[in-house]
Amino acid sequence: MSKFYTIPVSNIEQSTPDCRIITLDIPKDLQTEFAFKQGQYLTLKADINGTEVRRSYSLCSSPLDHQWQIGIKKIPNGKFSTFANDILKVGDSIEVMAPQGHFYIDVSESTDREYVAFAAGSGITPVHSIITTHLEAEPNSSFTLFYINQSTQSIILKESIEALKNKYIGRFRVFHFLTREKRAAELFNGRIDTVKLEAIFSSICSTENINDYFLCGPESMIHLIKDYLVNQGVDESNVHFELFGTNAEHSKERQESIAVEFAGKSCDLTVKEGGKTFDITVPQGESNVLDIALAHHADLPFACKGGVCATCKCKLEEGKVEMIVSYGLEQDEIDNGYILSCQAVPLSEKIIVDFDI
Ligand code: FES
Repeated sequence: MSKFYTIPVSNIEQSTPDCRIITLDIPKDLQTEFAFKQGQYLTLKADINGTEVRRSYSLCSSPLDHQWQIGIKKIPNGKFSTFANDILKVGDSIEVMAPQGHFYIDVSESTDREYVAFAAGSGITPVHSIITTHLEAEPNSSFTLFYINQSTQSIILKESIEALKNKYIGRFRVFHFLTREKRAAELFNGRIDTVKLEAIFSSICSTENINDYFLCGPESMIHLIKDYLVNQGVDESNVHFELFGTNAEHSKERQESIAVEFAGKSCDLTVKEGGKTFDITVPQGESNVLDIALAHHADLPFACKGGVCATCKCKLEEGKVEMIVSYGLEQDEIDNGYILSCQAVPLSEKIIVDFDI
């Protein structure tokens, strides 16, 4: 079941003209439940013009700061981000779920690792938390950040990143890439592409010395960098990523072609949640398990509905589904029968899913 808590907003800081850093005042009795790892996110819920809207936002603060801060960038036509930037104010309360997410590795005080991160736009939020935490907790580790933005003005957490540079001299480097502002060195103009990656890994750092990589931004950027690194011999398990935005067009096309293929067939769907079980008959190949169950008034956990956050995870006990995308699951979870209900299109006559896991 989705468990939301009512949490007051204690501070709001304007990081860029269209991005706010929002501090949540987690009450003492909830702080154990809200303990988090660097790189995790919170799912927020608000009633906006009579509609319930949920979104997930990464914590940009470090768990070592004992603060819960999220960065919310206003996006065109973004319901929640517009609400958070234009309406939400200090003293208001908002519904929040406890932290979730797998975008982290454990810190170890005795380690001396070299890390590299690539972040684009608001993708800096979890990366900022990760960098701050590893530099503070691992006195012998170092970090190099490649940060892509449109312009100097749109660099989120700019002052904090500068402060990290001053605090961890010799252990933290940052290279800014701007897509709509000309800089003297050509390397730092425009988006990351293969030519830039070649230049970065031949003149700034070497894949031979890097232990772990953290990538956060749009799907295309993540795939480009991940594929490049793997081609260079980097072990995939050392490339950690969090998607901010997926290829919605591709998902829509796939969903439509499945609907055509399975047209006319029906599925008896059983959903187990909160100790209850309910059965419905639905068309095969259409919609997804989450939306179908929500339409039948089930109280199920979800946030992104994009296959990224894994809030909607459940276990497929019987039957067959196709997951349009499954970024939010680890391979061993998929092997053990877990599915993302928001991405699971029914493909068999009988399906049983269990959310009580
Ligand atoms: S709701 Fe985020 S993966 Fe399904």
